[in-house]
Amino acid sequence: MRWPALILALCSFCAFAAQPGARSLDELRTFFAANCARCHGTDGASSSPACRKLCSTDFTDPKVMAKVSDERLVKTIRKGIFFGVVMPPFKKRLSEAETLLLVQGILRKAEKGKLIAAGGGGAAAR
Ligand code: HEC
Repeated sequence: MRWPALILALCSFCAFAAQPGARSLDELRTFFAANCARCHGTDGASSSPACRKLCSTDFTDPKVMAKVSDERLVKTIRKGIFFGVVMPPFKKRLSEAETLLLVQGILRKAEKGKLIAAGGGGAAAR
């Protein structure tokens, strides 16, 4: 291989490797606060006044969460509900891996009254 070709190959590999990395857990907590809390509540209990009637899945209730698989939750978050009318799809904004991390690391660990925010949060503002 001649040098220019080698350099070209290396550079395209670098450009690929330099793609923005997946969000960290803390970044996903901030994402939840900015994009999900208005419906699902700042703590994930889905008790926000805006959505109390529609949002039924209380992420802070282990009994409720035990009934749904990670796969199903990831699928719903990425697809949205009812063509985005009931809940917007997030597949363009969250990768599959990020969504799984959000489900396992945030939704499944949500506690009633505990704010979901970067750094672990604190008491939820109601
Ligand atoms: C416009 C309001 C709205 C927004 C914004 C919203 N949701 Fe939802 N979501 C709903 C409604 C309504 C439901 C259906 C009832 C339920 O299961 O709570 C739902 C359901 C869910 C479910 C349960 C899915 C299932 O299969 O049982 C999960 C998980 C979820 N949302 C996560 C999220 C996450 C994460 C975000 C932000 C990235 C988000 N939602 C943003 C309204 C919203």
